[in-house]
Amino acid sequence: MYGFRLPEDFLIGTANSAFQSEGAIDRDGKSENIMEYYARMYAGKYSPGIEKKLKEGRIKSGRVEPNDTTLPDRGCFFYDNYEAYIEDMAKTGQNVYRLSISWCRVIPTGVGEVNPKGIEFYNKVINKLIACNITPFVDLYHWDLPVCLHEKGGFENPEFPAWFEAYAKVCFEAFGDRVKLWSTFNETHISINAGYAGGNFPPFATDKKRSLLAGHYTLLAHYRAVRLYKSMNLGGKIGAVNCTSAIHPAWMKEDDIEAVEIQYNATFDWWTQPMLEGTYPQKLIRDIPYVRDNMPENYQEDLDKWFIPMDFIGLNYYVANRTEKTPETKMGTRAVEPFFSSPGQQFIPYPPGLFDTAMYIHEKYHGIDIYITENGCALRNQNDMEKEIEDPERVSYIREHLRMVCRLIKCGVNLKGYMYWNDADSYEELDGYRLRFGLTWVNHETGERVWKKSRHYFSEICKSRMVN
Ligand code: FCB
Repeated sequence: MYGFRLPEDFLIGTANSAFQSEGAIDRDGKSENIMEYYARMYAGKYSPGIEKKLKEGRIKSGRVEPNDTTLPDRGCFFYDNYEAYIEDMAKTGQNVYRLSISWCRVIPTGVGEVNPKGIEFYNKVINKLIACNITPFVDLYHWDLPVCLHEKGGFENPEFPAWFEAYAKVCFEAFGDRVKLWSTFNETHISINAGYAGGNFPPFATDKKRSLLAGHYTLLAHYRAVRLYKSMNLGGKIGAVNCTSAIHPAWMKEDDIEAVEIQYNATFDWWTQPMLEGTYPQKLIRDIPYVRDNMPENYQEDLDKWFIPMDFIGLNYYVANRTEKTPETKMGTRAVEPFFSSPGQQFIPYPPGLFDTAMYIHEKYHGIDIYITENGCALRNQNDMEKEIEDPERVSYIREHLRMVCRLIKCGVNLKGYMYWNDADSYEELDGYRLRFGLTWVNHETGERVWKKSRHYFSEICKSRMVN
């Protein structure tokens, strides 16, 4: 049934982000970002299920000290060990690595002076990747806003788009000769919707007006970076990375089918549609007072002024849900229990959901190029080294999701790449080091690295380019 050969130009590899992988959080001139700031100040107290975690002793309350395991001060020690990591990627046979640049390393004051040490680090990483025949896929922003900008209002400051454009310019000028795949923002749905309206992500606000404004300025920042990139004629492509669950109707009835549309609109299309078509999803503005009443003034004029379509969409896909219509929530929808279970897994995988979401994007956005920029498996209670290195669940996870990749390609979806999250066990914002997604096991005390079974398996696929 399978036995599918990946197309010649298909990119297959792994992903990670600066604040989750690098460590060295105050080295060589780097300033503090909001993820570090909130982890330090609140020791994860903000995370969902906080009471339970406190009771189980999984996190401590109060301000934390250096070396606390809720701090992103180690990541997977990528800053110190990047060469070894990239050599492992080369041995794996992968031809892409998705990384992000830390704004705080490159411009520690957020705006203004460039830190040569920051540029030097990413030059070394990019050069090493290229020397190993690995395409760098580079995110400008993966959740690590400089605290100094946050203190000036961050995303809510009307200057934000200009700050971001200036930062993007530094990156394009420094690395654009070698980096040909760029993305502006990672999962704005999380950093903005969860961060400003949902109250469960830094900066933990619960104000829809603030979230819509912060999101609006983020979109303008995205447009400005895309515009600038295109004007520089560097010969690469630029997109953004958005996320969604695979959303299905709870019951086969019209109300729930409509709830699915609302949910896709609210999480994924809210960002993707303006990025590709220059408009917000009209249905939400028309039908949902919680959205309509909180929209920024003159939003369409702003979009019209700055809009420029991006080249591709990055999709982060992890889970699926069933959604129903309800008068009890502000959006008028709610997810009910998943229809698929997988005991012991924190993010319940549902591989066909990858097919459904990518197909949704393909149909809605007229065959746009898609990269799966994240997809990954975390196992609970698997911190013990012996157990973790035998990770048959992750092997199945990768195989089943890659089978969906093959189906998508066979169906004519313009799927250009797949990046497993993540390359090595790193810092997971709401769970510290306890949640492990990596293909490489990392000892977060010593930095020791060991390939898990899943990395060997992934390597066979990368080398043979066959999915069986
Ligand atoms: C995604 C994030 C990534 C990582 C995975 C598990 O939402 O983009 O940084 O935390 O989830």
